[in-house]
Amino acid sequence: MLNNVPASLANLLEHPGKVYPTVVAVTLIAVVVVIILHLILALLGGRAPRARKRFNWWEKLVYLGALASVSVLGVTSFYTVLRFGGMHGWWLFAHMFGAGALTAVLPLAALTWCGASRFGQSGPQAGDAAYVPRFFWLPRVMFWLFLVAGLGVMLTMLVSMLPLFGTEGLEILLDIHRYAGLLAVVALLIHFYCVLLQRAQLR
Ligand code: HEM
Repeated sequence: MLNNVPASLANLLEHPGKVYPTVVAVTLIAVVVVIILHLILALLGGRAPRARKRFNWWEKLVYLGALASVSVLGVTSFYTVLRFGGMHGWWLFAHMFGAGALTAVLPLAALTWCGASRFGQSGPQAGDAAYVPRFFWLPRVMFWLFLVAGLGVMLTMLVSMLPLFGTEGLEILLDIHRYAGLLAVVALLIHFYCVLLQRAQLR
């Protein structure tokens, strides 16, 4: 089985679009398995009560907007890619609704959450012994990954609408869009899991 790994990698680099359904299935299953295993370990480790600042209504609204738009985008694209091999018709129409919502939510998420997701924070509270950052390191990493990947999915489609690229260029942009979309979904999924972990005082 391990003999096939270099061949599979070469296939991935040569035909990133063709192997995309397999990459989506393997990645999503792997992320869910890792989350379940981590949750079991966290539950066994017991609670670690920490007085973290709660989300206010605006922060909740922006976060829910990001979750909702990315869910629509992920379901419409991954379901159709896995089931039919591509996205067409009403699925693509629904994808465009999610796309509009994400385009509005992403800048708001960047402005609302960047402060709490900064590394090496300084400020009046940061030196206190009792100071607890709003997110531990993993959701911070996932936040920045989500922003970069979200920007990637948007820019690839916006640039595709300009009369700058031929067929080959458009295919490359679509492949970048596909993989950036997968990265955005995975980053937000892990971020959401970390937020729930913190909420349950397991982290
Ligand atoms: C998390 C966010 C997103 C994910 C996971 C995602 C995923 C995908 C995937 C996998 C495809 C290819 C489907 C196929 O192979 O037939 C696709 C196509 C498409 N996406 Fe997205 N997308 C996301 C965000 C966006 C955004 C923000 C826009 C617009 C600004 C957008 C516009 C499009 C369009 C127009 C297509 C069709 C391209 C074509 O068939 O030529 N997507 N998306």
